[in-house]
Amino acid sequence: LADPSFSQDVIDWQKQHGRHALPWQNTRDAYRVWLSEIMLQQTQVAAVIPYYQRFLQTFPTVDSLADAPSEEVMAHWSGLGYYSRARNLHKCAQAIVAQHGGVFPSDPVVLEELPGIGRSTAAAIAAFSYGTRAAILDGNVKRVFARVFGVERYPGEKAIENEMWARAVALLPGTGVEAYTQGLMDLGATLCTRNRPSCHRCPLAQRCIAYATARTNELPVRKPK
Ligand code: ADE
Repeated sequence: LADPSFSQDVIDWQKQHGRHALPWQNTRDAYRVWLSEIMLQQTQVAAVIPYYQRFLQTFPTVDSLADAPSEEVMAHWSGLGYYSRARNLHKCAQAIVAQHGGVFPSDPVVLEELPGIGRSTAAAIAAFSYGTRAAILDGNVKRVFARVFGVERYPGEKAIENEMWARAVALLPGTGVEAYTQGLMDLGATLCTRNRPSCHRCPLAQRCIAYATARTNELPVRKPK
């Protein structure tokens, strides 16, 4: 499963063609990285940006968020949807202050114990904030993997998901996990889209099974009814 040229191709592409000016990039402040990753879990980048900026102005630190009344936190989330994210966000801020001295842990296994942080979000926070070598696997990355590796089963199936996690871990670069992680996210969001992917610009096209067999419309396999 290991293949250093895979991560190198993603990293080279990210540096040249990836996104570099999103408001939560170019910071290693784990509070900012965490806030952005929670907001981006079920919401598009363009919708998140104004919320992220207003939220940070009101709650500039994890301590200020932990101390805020929940009504105020909910009011600043209002309109973003999936409100359990906001309730978990507030609980998580309080846990960071009470259990971690106000500092986000750099170990994804520890991050994953906190409210609202699953395995992929934990890895993204650790990689972007601390350069920790940890694998992400969100919906976009599942689509990229399903196409590149020609996965012919529904990725929501537990066995297939486990297989993809093993791939995600095996493909991690030795260094440069920040650019690699951002590159996978950017590929999934900008080129390897659900419909009409831009394979002619994709750094993985030359190794992509879906591209080689003209099956990008069939992969990933849809949820069986
Ligand atoms: N989606 C999830 N995390 C993201 C990030 N850091 N940048 C852009 N889109 C994302």
